[in-house]
Amino acid sequence: MIISASIICGAMEANEPRSTRFYAPGVIDADAWFRVAASDYLQLISACNFPRLLAGVNSLFDAGCGLGKFPSLLAPSLEDFSGSIDCDFLDPSAHCIDRFARSAPHPFAPRQGFATTIEAFTPQPGQSYDLVWALQSIYAWDRERLAASLAKLRMLAGERGGILVFQAARSAFYHRFYNAYRIAFSPRTPAYITAEEACDALGFDACQTRIFHVDHVIPAGDRALLEAYLRQLCFDTGITLKAIEECPATAALLDRHRGEGEYRLPQEVWLIGDGNILDALAG
Ligand SMILES: C[S@@+](CC[C@H](N)C(=O)[O-])C[C@H]1O[C@@H](n2cnc3c(N)ncnc32)[C@H](O)[C@@H]1O
Repeated sequence: MIISASIICGAMEANEPRSTRFYAPGVIDADAWFRVAASDYLQLISACNFPRLLAGVNSLFDAGCGLGKFPSLLAPSLEDFSGSIDCDFLDPSAHCIDRFARSAPHPFAPRQGFATTIEAFTPQPGQSYDLVWALQSIYAWDRERLAASLAKLRMLAGERGGILVFQAARSAFYHRFYNAYRIAFSPRTPAYITAEEACDALGFDACQTRIFHVDHVIPAGDRALLEAYLRQLCFDTGITLKAIEECPATAALLDRHRGEGEYRLPQEVWLIGDGNILDALAG
């Protein structure tokens, strides 16, 4: 008799469906999330010369475009751009595809949206872009197919284009909290993909990394904000702050980062890319 492995071990619940269920109208509280987490993008924008990089970019592929927060925060520094950047964008969340198509700001010109996962996506022959980026978007990708998915980004960048990835590293609160959460509340869910794993799997010679440190700060008295932030971190609409505070592992992690009137949650985020892309950003 054949007994399925999922009956013996219990089926794993991949991160992507959890994420896609979360990135839906009426579920995600993007205002709460970005009140805390936009600081990653703001630091990236202030530390890098995106106008210089994008001056040479006519076409962009955004892998895991989300709600297009990064382009919207970047747009004010690109107001002087006379031309536009043709953008194709991919995301398994139909809500994200719809939002990006309707609201990407100048100079980003939305062209074709792909409502699918990177794993299910097949680049077409000749489909190539000056720049391919995946910004804070690799966490929920399938670990078993990570190298193949990143190879698709390389294929989309073609001979002349470049790749840029922005992703939290292993030591970030984001990963540490998710690991404590899933062990306690969702043991069949795998860990998120880290920057270290993405960098390894990219495996291309010219790979360079720049490391950013930023704190996510939440007033200790704003329990609704803390709960909304932690729910999104875990893609769990049902988890309560009370349950998190009653669980020793998650409570200890929060306590460790509670200071004078606020939580200060330290993130380490890597900017990973082709050498020429990071050189342009450094200018
Ligand atoms: C934090 S958001 C990305 C943010 C976005 N880059 C921005 O500019 O604000 C992560 C995105 O990755 C998407 N995602 C999750 N799993 C994915 C997969 N397997 N393939 C592609 N995208 C995925 C999610 O739907 C989500 O929109």
